[in-house]
Amino acid sequence: MKTLNIVNGPKNVPVIIQGCMRMPALSVDKAAEVIRNAYDLGVNFYDHATCYGNGEAETRFGDAFPLTGLRREDVILQSKCGLRFERKEFDWTEENILVSVDESLSRLKTDYLDVLLLHRPDLIFEPEQVASAFDKLEKSGKVRYFGVSNVPTMQLMLLKKYVRQPLVFNQLQFSLDQSQLIDQALYVNNKTTDMSLDRDNGTVDYCRLNDITIQAWSPLQYGFFKGVFVDNPDFPVLNGALNEIAEREGVSKTAVATAWILRHPAKMQAILGTMNPAHMKDACDAVKVTLSHHDWYKLYLAAGKFLP
Ligand SMILES: NC(=O)c1ccc[n+]([C@@H]2O[C@H](COP(=O)([O-])OP(=O)(O)OC[C@H]3O[C@@H](n4cnc5c(N)ncnc54)[C@H](OP(=O)(O)O)[C@@H]3O)[C@@H](O)[C@H]2O)c1
Repeated sequence: MKTLNIVNGPKNVPVIIQGCMRMPALSVDKAAEVIRNAYDLGVNFYDHATCYGNGEAETRFGDAFPLTGLRREDVILQSKCGLRFERKEFDWTEENILVSVDESLSRLKTDYLDVLLLHRPDLIFEPEQVASAFDKLEKSGKVRYFGVSNVPTMQLMLLKKYVRQPLVFNQLQFSLDQSQLIDQALYVNNKTTDMSLDRDNGTVDYCRLNDITIQAWSPLQYGFFKGVFVDNPDFPVLNGALNEIAEREGVSKTAVATAWILRHPAKMQAILGTMNPAHMKDACDAVKVTLSHHDWYKLYLAAGKFLP
């Protein structure tokens, strides 16, 4: 597995992460198989959130982990807090951050998180409260590294003014189909296409300038969790282009779609959500793929994007 050394963050982390959002659907035995399979492929980094299955994903992982034969220190556990769907609110208050971490630790059956991310912005967050929560979590040893998810530039800047700890990750939606994270630069101030809309104040470039590693979520999905574009007959041109490179490289189309994310010079991680060990193995072949500059554009255009 290819690895990254995160500036101010954990070292030797895999470029592919095992997402655990879909783990509530599994039995404990099956979850243990998924965890161990990922680890054996070099993917020792697991992404959680308090809201996945309303805590069920973390519970399943915590119950399954002892069956894997792995030690706590063998793996990197990341969780997120702030989305409280059950209360119909997003909450970055100090109290909620601290309670959420305690609940995650209890469900995961561990005494520390390697990484804590604030999930989507709380529209009325007070950065002083986040700063105080992070200080307490760091001091108590409950969290080693901090970051965010779905947070645009200005809010990152606001947080950074108050929070002492480096924010080392920003988890964002990014796939061949959902590439709006990078599209805008092509069309700048053009009035004729939505691609010119600046949706996040240049978050990718801000992250690159500030050593914040982007973790791309839903790397194979189209729309907002509408399904997978790989092998989907509604995406014939994209699948044709994926297939051509897959055949050339001797890997699956899933590997090529994942490699397209990893080819971006921002040095992102890709979070795969598969609960199928064979699919995870296919995706991990992404690290064997060499995409040329031209291959990258060819896939981008095959996904329906267009150049000015
Ligand atoms: N920060 C956020 O707001 C946010 C939002 C969403 C997700 N996430 C994170 O991102 C992770 C990934 O999200 P995701 O599950 O939507 O991403 P994904 O990897 O794009 O999609 C996974 C889904 O695709 C299916 N799939 C079908 N064919 C596949 C193939 N050939 N290879 C791989 N998967 C295939 C999988 O089913 P099988 O299990 O049958 O393979 C699974 O249901 C989540 O687990 C979570 O950790 C974060």
